[in-house]
Amino acid sequence: MHFDLDENQTMFRDMVRDFARKEIMPLAHRMDQEAMIPADLIAKMRDNGFFGLTFPQEYGGLGVDTITYAVVIEELSRASAGLSVMLTVHNSVGSYPVAMYGSEAARRAFLPRMAAGEIAAFCITEPNAGSDAAALVTSARRTADGWVLNGGKVFVTNGERAAFYVVLARTPGTTGHKDIHAFIVERGAPGLTIAKKEDKMGLRCSDTVAINLEDVQVPAANLLGKEGDGFRVAMSALDGGRIGIAFQALGIGRACLEDAVRYAKTREQFGKPIASLSVIQGMIADMGAELEAARTLGYKAAWLKDQGRPHTKEAAMAKILATEAAWRAADCAVQIHGGYGYCKEYDVERYYRDVRVTRIYEGTSEIQRLVIARKILEEY
Ligand code: CAA
Repeated sequence: MHFDLDENQTMFRDMVRDFARKEIMPLAHRMDQEAMIPADLIAKMRDNGFFGLTFPQEYGGLGVDTITYAVVIEELSRASAGLSVMLTVHNSVGSYPVAMYGSEAARRAFLPRMAAGEIAAFCITEPNAGSDAAALVTSARRTADGWVLNGGKVFVTNGERAAFYVVLARTPGTTGHKDIHAFIVERGAPGLTIAKKEDKMGLRCSDTVAINLEDVQVPAANLLGKEGDGFRVAMSALDGGRIGIAFQALGIGRACLEDAVRYAKTREQFGKPIASLSVIQGMIADMGAELEAARTLGYKAAWLKDQGRPHTKEAAMAKILATEAAWRAADCAVQIHGGYGYCKEYDVERYYRDVRVTRIYEGTSEIQRLVIARKILEEY
């Protein structure tokens, strides 16, 4: 056992860290305030292959392993968590269902376009189907040559920018998880419309929308997996997605720690830098230890995924540890900055808002605990 990144993983980390420092950090405050991502920044990310990180090379991707992916997401999130969520949703729940469950024709049709920067979104949540994802009611009616979708989805990350939507829908008149199907739907499909854009507390440069589906025709070839596989497709995609969100939170947490340390070393009170006060050191120690523990577990979850081994429990554990550690780190970072930390002039104010949703999306902390407890109860 060893704990070092390999040569390739280190190269990616250094490349993305440099990119984030030069290209993203100078814009992060403005992207948050103006709730936008400049088109030329998206183009630079596309040119660096960020939109095809996890896809096999034969479909135009970089084919990196999950540990490299996790490292990349942490580096991007350290600079802007709003920008990184666009990529993590695209590279996991937005595209994994196509890469893993799409037919060869679907993979060839969609993955190269996604890798080239046409963005993907994931549509599972509905007004009355959040944590209880199997309660979704959007319908998929079979026709002679495909399916017709009707319903509505909420909290669709990337929904406004997306070229592709993975949509979960069920056979009309059914309940439970067995009759849910997964589809890939292209933007521009008649009947697919953006209903509403959310005005969020954090991750303000990322777009989150509700979409309506009204008699949207989907070719039979766009079914992902077999009929009735939809819930399993979604759950397995979320296993990987949760590793990405863990590392998004770790990126925010690291930003909190780095900014708090820098501030504590320069801010003087009682005639000395506040970093010399034991109350401040206690906060810094807890931030560092908790983030490091969560990162180590996150690498283990990513490693299990790369080995093709079950990782549902470890992904849920990594998400809960990382998001809760990062949330506490954000609170400490604001506390260490005092009144300044409450003002937009300092980035910790943004981190504090951005980190909050990581305990909610891709499964709330309560759902992660349910997933972990079910697995442990099965094991022991
Ligand atoms: N991988 C593969 N299959 C899985 C699975 C997994 N991780 N988890 C469950 N399944 C399978 C089960 O084996 C079972 O299969 P069988 O038909 O063979 O029995 C089936 O799915 C049903 O499983 P459960 O009985 O566990 O289902 P449940 O209804 O009790 O729900 C749940 C389980 C874990 C609570 C699930 O509903 C869940 O994860 N809820 C949270 C949803 C969520 O994370 N939403 C986030 C949306 S995306 C987002 O946040 C937006 C964004 O873009 C960032």
